[in-house]
Amino acid sequence: MSETSLAVLYLVAAVLFILSLGGLSNQETARRGNLCGIVGMTIALVGTLLHPHVESYWLISPAILAGAVIGAILAIRVVMTAMPQLVAMLHSFVGLAAVLVGIASYLSPEESVAAGGRAAILVHEIEIWIGVAVGAITFTGSVIAWGKLRGSISGSPLLLPGRHAFNLVMLIAVVVMAFFFVSEQTTHELGLTYLLIMTAITCVLGIHLVMAIGGADMPVVVSLLNSYSGWAAAAAGFMLSNDLLIVTGALVGSSGAILSYIMCRAMNRSILNVAFGGFGTGDSKPAAGGDEIEGEAHPIEAAAVCDLLRASKEVIIVPGYGLAVARAQHLVNELANKLREAGVKVRYAIHPVAGRLPGHMNVLLAEAGVPYDIVLEMDEINADFGNTSVALVIGANDVANPSAETDSSSPIYGMPVLKVWNAENVIVLKRSMASGYAGVQNPLFFLENTHMLFGDAKDSIGQLVSGL
Ligand code: TAP
Repeated sequence: MSETSLAVLYLVAAVLFILSLGGLSNQETARRGNLCGIVGMTIALVGTLLHPHVESYWLISPAILAGAVIGAILAIRVVMTAMPQLVAMLHSFVGLAAVLVGIASYLSPEESVAAGGRAAILVHEIEIWIGVAVGAITFTGSVIAWGKLRGSISGSPLLLPGRHAFNLVMLIAVVVMAFFFVSEQTTHELGLTYLLIMTAITCVLGIHLVMAIGGADMPVVVSLLNSYSGWAAAAAGFMLSNDLLIVTGALVGSSGAILSYIMCRAMNRSILNVAFGGFGTGDSKPAAGGDEIEGEAHPIEAAAVCDLLRASKEVIIVPGYGLAVARAQHLVNELANKLREAGVKVRYAIHPVAGRLPGHMNVLLAEAGVPYDIVLEMDEINADFGNTSVALVIGANDVANPSAETDSSSPIYGMPVLKVWNAENVIVLKRSMASGYAGVQNPLFFLENTHMLFGDAKDSIGQLVSGL
């Protein structure tokens, strides 16, 4: 295939990726967005395979086949609640790929680089240095995020004394070594040594940055790593002189950065705070791991909840991670429909970080066919809890924790939460008194107007549906 036809294919793919991002920003158009992404990626792959640089298919075919099989199996088997871990793992692959591409392209640069003289070599070496640095931070940071999200690494932040100075020293070392790396006096062997030492330093930096982040801030970290993976891919695109990789990387990098900013605002965190692991929060404490709260919770039976619901004018349903675990979204929809048929006004309140991935609850509810117009974001509905007969908190915990407003020592202090406690009655559906993702106990469970309906959310909602 000629370079010109390839450029046209890449342009079409890039436009499809932009349409895909546009489509994904709205629930009604999300399917179309996904489809555009799939078609764009297929065009990109086929174009790349037909690239004149691909001289033999013997190496690339088994790699594609193995990748496609592993990817398909993972995607089919992954449960919705384990999606963030999968995403973190995929980010780590992008980071690792950028590191490998960088080192490989230093070992055997393209002929055009050498032909371009000193200026071209300088630009190429800077691309390699930046690409490998961003790639290594993305790689190890994402591996740690993967471990934290699947629970194999503690969610508590690792706050080493002098951690900011440690990060700064590593950062300065990376910048200073860059000057030696690109210097004309540096031999190729010495340059490789610098590159490998820098890779090791940035790997440590990636681990340290993400280890310092507490459980409650993990959503922002995942989207930040998403953004880093985009920039790493763009850097790989520069190293390989691949325009589509540059465009795609920049799209992922910038959309990830915008998402991180939106999530930071939703959680009342500064982006610096999250990017540099607790920066400027000298008194923020690690997750308390479920400290006991003085007081008594009030259990309730399903039949009594049915009576309350029947007598209600307005019900607000607050879904959380437990709803996804119980896979109870279809039953919740059935429950809401029954109440609406009986003349009760039912709405859903969605916290921006409910569940384990951005838009998790919206996806679940859309899957169950819940009408979009009764699904409201936190800012749209938070003031209405005061006029609500029953707030039905289903498998949600951190997102409705009043200590985010009242306890300055709490790791979630300052995060805006759903003010469910303002409702006349609060019914919490969960299995036990266990804490949520941030590892902090929830004083909501001990309030006078709160009652606990213990059990798996699917079983409990099933009882409510048949009771009604
Ligand atoms: P959580 O605070 O994690 O609480 C979920 C609750 O669901 C748990 O307390 C659990 O209590 C209950 N639960 C689990 N399985 C259940 C089942 N089968 N039936 C009934 N209840 C069940 O969830 P949330 O309120 O949605 O808050 C989300 C948290 O995750 C936040 O801290 C957020 O920062 C973090 N996070 C979010 C994201 C994104 S992007 N959304 C990504 C990573 C982390 P029991 O064990 O007692 O049942």
